[in-house]
Amino acid sequence: MSPAKKSVKTSVKKSVKPPTSPFYEVRRSKIQGRGAFAILPIRKGKKIDEYWGKPITHEEADRRYDDSEARHHTFLFVLDDDTVLDARYGGNDARFINHSCDPNCETVIEDGHIWIKAMKAITPETELVYDYRFEWQDEYEPDDVRYYACRCGAKKCRGTILRIPVYLRSTIKQWLAGNDVPVPKKPKKGAKKVVKKAVKKAVKKVVKKAVR
Ligand SMILES: C[S@@+](CC[C@H](N)C(=O)[O-])C[C@H]1O[C@@H](n2cnc3c(N)ncnc32)[C@H](O)[C@@H]1O
Ligand SMILES: [Zn+2]
Repeated sequence: MSPAKKSVKTSVKKSVKPPTSPFYEVRRSKIQGRGAFAILPIRKGKKIDEYWGKPITHEEADRRYDDSEARHHTFLFVLDDDTVLDARYGGNDARFINHSCDPNCETVIEDGHIWIKAMKAITPETELVYDYRFEWQDEYEPDDVRYYACRCGAKKCRGTILRIPVYLRSTIKQWLAGNDVPVPKKPKKGAKKVVKKAVKKAVKKVVKKAVR
């Protein structure tokens, strides 16, 4: 069976009419291209919209968008290990919600549905943004990180749309500054736990000595 024909297990509706949300409209964005802007006050926790798109397999998504373009631009959203929604087909305005490293929205997946939910109260005219947190791949190099450059403009912008493992944070900062330092050794799984245990033991020893 070719990857593109792999069956897609999803409860996503196949109806042709995607929902529209009364809470925002699409306008030009300072972040990139078009974005979604609140036109009503939105309370914290409100489900603002559902992300719609054609369900396809990961293999099909990789085939459609091979990252060879000069700049990254897709309307993909990973639903689960089997399925990606491609909002280029059958998508609604939720596809225009940009990424920010300091988001006011989050995405929540419930029963095969992707919801855009307010993380805080949002006032009209504010751009709706969520953290895309694109999955980090161990084979990524400086050019890949720069390919996914972030232009959210937030004070705490991490410089890339990618989700960065903690042990690589300073490396990626260097890469983004044009200094292509080598990748540090990946810490072994559970290494953090071992260090924590050792610290706990040392503290216990010191306390024991102090109370003697
Ligand atoms: C789902 S679209 C969002 C709508 C997009 N602005 C448009 O007009 O089509 C996702 C794409 O928007 C761009 N984008 C979104 N947030 C961005 C950000 N913070 N920095 C740079 N580009 C961003 C990237 O090209 C990304 O692949
Ligand atoms: Zn950013």
